[in-house]
Amino acid sequence: MPLVSLTSILDILVLASFLSAIFAIRDYQRRRGLPYPPGPRPLPLIGNLLDIPKEFSWLSYTQLSKNHGMIYFAEKGLLTEAMTGDVLSFHVFGKVIVVLNSLKANKDLLERRGDIYLDRPVIPIFEMMKWEWNLAFSNYTDSCRLARKLLDRSLRPAIIAAYRPLLQTKTHALLTQVLANPDELEAYLHHLSGSLILAMGYGYEVKGLNDPKVNAAKNMIKLTSTTTLPGALLVNDLPFLRHIPEWLPWFSYKPLARYGCNIGQEVLQGPMEFVRETILNGTAQPSLALDNLQETEKLEEPERGKMEEMIARALGSTYLAGTDTTATSLMSFFVAALLRPEIQTMAQAELDAVTRRERLPTFEDRPRLPFVDAICQEVVRWRPVVPLGMPHATTEDDIYNGFFIPKGAAVIVNAWAILHDPVMYPEPDTFKPERFIDPNGSLREDPVLTSSFGFGKRICPGRHLADATLFIAVASLLSVFDIKKGGNGTGGGPDVYPFTGGVVRALSPAPSPQGMEGQKSLFSPLHELLGSFVRLVFHVFTKAALFNKETRSI
Ligand code: HEM
Repeated sequence: MPLVSLTSILDILVLASFLSAIFAIRDYQRRRGLPYPPGPRPLPLIGNLLDIPKEFSWLSYTQLSKNHGMIYFAEKGLLTEAMTGDVLSFHVFGKVIVVLNSLKANKDLLERRGDIYLDRPVIPIFEMMKWEWNLAFSNYTDSCRLARKLLDRSLRPAIIAAYRPLLQTKTHALLTQVLANPDELEAYLHHLSGSLILAMGYGYEVKGLNDPKVNAAKNMIKLTSTTTLPGALLVNDLPFLRHIPEWLPWFSYKPLARYGCNIGQEVLQGPMEFVRETILNGTAQPSLALDNLQETEKLEEPERGKMEEMIARALGSTYLAGTDTTATSLMSFFVAALLRPEIQTMAQAELDAVTRRERLPTFEDRPRLPFVDAICQEVVRWRPVVPLGMPHATTEDDIYNGFFIPKGAAVIVNAWAILHDPVMYPEPDTFKPERFIDPNGSLREDPVLTSSFGFGKRICPGRHLADATLFIAVASLLSVFDIKKGGNGTGGGPDVYPFTGGVVRALSPAPSPQGMEGQKSLFSPLHELLGSFVRLVFHVFTKAALFNKETRSI
């Protein structure tokens, strides 16, 4: 006799349909009959789980947004025209994901109505790893707001200007490293951005390519991307799986959570302990941590302790958010220089006219280097390194262009769609710095480029540092090197330079991070297997439910 009879399967299906109907009615009442923004038709229970692309989703979202036309709706008695595709929605296990594909939609929602779009969606594995201290993953609580304020103050243009000598020194070191060992280019670019953040933030001098503080942060970065890739961890879709006890080692997420928690604490506390030690032994170097800690001296406990926590939180968030992003932008510059070698010649002519080949360029030369600046702007536009930004989350229901956006929805900025809009940027896939040069030869600054750094109060606080690093590195590299294909002296090398499709885009294949031993064993193949199995069951189950409905209706 079969273990599960046909009648019991049918009973389950009837119960599931009944529950779905109740949820659908409650959902309809909640949105007062208003539609969700357009998107692919969701399946029962799993919604659009199978529609959400795992890789390069910004391209699919951009395409999908083009497939939806204009709509007309009545607003204050007037017939208003709106694009429907600039706001899309997807549904996964009852959660709503909204994708904003146009500059207007992003500005309207994340800036004009920004106060209800300030949270971040909950990522269960991050909660388990206790990573809420990191600003990029934190809701906009009072403590997040204060840490953000501290970071905005510490990374404002005037402060970045004070750190220009440090930026120049670090860039000169990069030139020597690349000259000595061009095969390690990508590692040196990461070293530049990482060592800059640790020096500025904590006065810490990175020791070579295998520095323990850098490795801890690299592990956190790696763990962030591997655990947030869509479908990578089932616990992110089905949060109740977090409760699987540790005595089921092949299924439990707890060992991974503990590993992540330890790494997080190392990134949060390690550099701060270093600063405290150097203050005590009188060797502390100028840094953002030192400046801020000195300010706390006038405070009494417990305010002083709270402030110190805030400083650790704010600065601890910068390494994770600022290293890969800046290094990947610089890699994009190298790719662009290979694809269009003539832009190197044009920039070098400009640089030589300013420096007369007698010295390296400096920040003071910037106003006289519009083409170099145009290259930097085009790098930011051509290959936005975080093409879907960091997701925001709503704290209240909202209505936009007649569509309903519920409280708790994840809201994604499709920066790629904005920066690859063929109307604003003809031939968007071609690297063309010339598009930012006016007929009189001056630089046309483009405010839309900040889309690459997000919108509203959560906009990237490190954007001025990223801009300064990109400029001085591109100017210095072009003033001493001709960038050509490598290939061990044979003049060969690849003709295509694919980028990965993860949260932060890297060149593919990405370099293997050092110091990751032990992590692999925490990602049990059973997690993946379990994930695929559950997905398959859901797929078959929902197809069966649909089939059932169809045959009954016949
Ligand atoms: C090319 C370089 C960079 C790019 C493209 C970039 C992009 C972004 C984006 C898209 C966000 C999310 C914004 C939003 O939620 O709307 C973000 C957040 C953040 N970025 Fe950057 N970033 C870069 C460099 C940096 C640097 C150098 C630092 C620090 C020194 C930094 C620190 C941060 C922090 C702390 C957050 C989280 C802010 C929050 O959640 O309130 N970033 N970045």
